[in-house]
Amino acid sequence: MATGKTTVARHLAQRLGLEWVDLDELIERRSARTVAQLFAERGEAVFRRLERELLLEELSRAQQNPLIISLGGGALVDRELRVEVLNQAVVVTLTASVDTILARAQRDSTGQMTRPLLAGNDPERTVVRLLAERKDAYREAHGVVATDGRSISELGDEVERIYRDDTVVVAAGEQTYQVYIGAGQISDRLAQLVGSPSGTLLVTDENVAPLYAPRARVALHNLAGAHGEVVLRPGEEHKSLLGLSHIYQGAFQSGMDRKSLFIGLGGGVVTDMTGFAAATWVRGVSWLGIPTTLLAMVDASVGGKTAVDFETAKNSVGAFWQPKGVICDVETLKSESERAFVGALSEVVKTAIIGDPGLMELLEEQADRIAQRDLSLLRQIVDRCVRVKARIVALDERESGIRAHLNLGHTIGHALEASGGYTALTHGEAVSLGLVAALRFGQRRGHTTSDFSARVIQLLKRLKLPHALTRSALQRASSLIAHDKKRAGSSVRFIYARGAGDVWAEPTALTDIENNIALLADD
Ligand SMILES: NC(=O)c1ccc[n+]([C@@H]2O[C@H](COP(=O)([O-])OP(=O)(O)OC[C@H]3O[C@@H](n4cnc5c(N)ncnc54)[C@H](O)[C@@H]3O)[C@@H](O)[C@H]2O)c1
Ligand SMILES: [Zn+2]
Repeated sequence: MATGKTTVARHLAQRLGLEWVDLDELIERRSARTVAQLFAERGEAVFRRLERELLLEELSRAQQNPLIISLGGGALVDRELRVEVLNQAVVVTLTASVDTILARAQRDSTGQMTRPLLAGNDPERTVVRLLAERKDAYREAHGVVATDGRSISELGDEVERIYRDDTVVVAAGEQTYQVYIGAGQISDRLAQLVGSPSGTLLVTDENVAPLYAPRARVALHNLAGAHGEVVLRPGEEHKSLLGLSHIYQGAFQSGMDRKSLFIGLGGGVVTDMTGFAAATWVRGVSWLGIPTTLLAMVDASVGGKTAVDFETAKNSVGAFWQPKGVICDVETLKSESERAFVGALSEVVKTAIIGDPGLMELLEEQADRIAQRDLSLLRQIVDRCVRVKARIVALDERESGIRAHLNLGHTIGHALEASGGYTALTHGEAVSLGLVAALRFGQRRGHTTSDFSARVIQLLKRLKLPHALTRSALQRASSLIAHDKKRAGSSVRFIYARGAGDVWAEPTALTDIENNIALLADD
């Protein structure tokens, strides 16, 4: 409150030629009361309900014509609403020091603060308390802009830049970060994000280094401080403690300290390993992810999971460690192998089913252009997938609820992947088959219609993903379902889909799946 929202919003509306709505004014018009009266007569809860309702209305109106909306300081304190708004709009928090806020908050003729939340007799204490309470709410935004002592046009420039960047925010309190999605922008984005660390360690692999490391170096070569590079051997078999020790070796030799920055440039193997090395080197340094495969962009870039494998246990040594930012340059997908690229499309289809029916339609309409790796289409696809995952992860950091939906197609998919010794099928191919199996299993339980199954299978086919389930493959996989990491006793939380955007988890007995599995086959 009193950080200059109205002034900055009015200025931006003029500059960008956009309509501007002040939500408090809208509330006052609709309720025919001042905000102060509403608070006094109806209480804060009623005010917040109205505020929420009108905000969602304005956001849906903004789908047609972009709007600038200025919000009261408490509007996005409710986390669920905040995550929804972050998904649909670019959110900028304007901040100011306590003194500035107190100086700017106007008093009425009786000397009372006109802002209802400051109406008590110790406004300074109230401001300090509110700022502390709302710390996460204010940090979870596309940008946080300090306004003290800065001109309107300076502030306008900064907010406009944030608006035009149009990134996806992964809301994680103090660890909130943004995913930049574009084509051909590694150097520029990296230069923008890198800050001024004491040193940088670029980690990549032998396949990616010759293709893209030069672009990263361009952005780093002007930085002061040490610079190290580690080129890992490519592939999952090197996602190990030994591989990790190569990163530590590079960090040690180039003198990386607490203030240094690690940069992981490559597929999910490289970004997972770099993140884990960053989580553990001198008890944790910051890192940036530059994923260069479709899987790493749509899946590994959100959620802060970092790890290496141990023996046959995948990702068993790891940590949650959010990156400081992620850069997805879809141009790098042009050189990805056909098998890896197509395989990852199964995760895209999965994501569409879980949370974006419009994406499902886009995939159906544009399957051929996707195969040709059309850059503008890839950019849209990555953007939409990252948004879905970011929203789910933000709403469920502890993995107790809807995050389980991301496991759609994975219960039987993992078993198929494991029964092929992790070589016959890639993870993506196994997920494609797992999706078909999950939908058919849903059909048997009366949850999924045969129409929806047929629609998904048709899409997988057009994307050149495997979709034929053989009885023998399913039988081989059957006993491995019990190894599911998300198993609870004799049941698993199986994910069912009734249609795009209509997905839920339900405890399902392992014996039910095992007894029916052969019936899911085509033959
Ligand atoms: N952290 C998470 O939440 C999360 C989510 C999903 C998957 N993962 C992990 O991701 C890993 C799989 O990722 P992946 O499929 O990217 O595999 P990968 O990292 O092994 O990359 C696949 C291959 O492609 C090469 N490559 C990468 N980018 C390239 C490019 N642009 N052009 C040409 N070649 C390129 C690599 O060198 C490698 O040989 C697994 O280890 C999995 O556990 C993590
Ligand atoms: Zn997966």
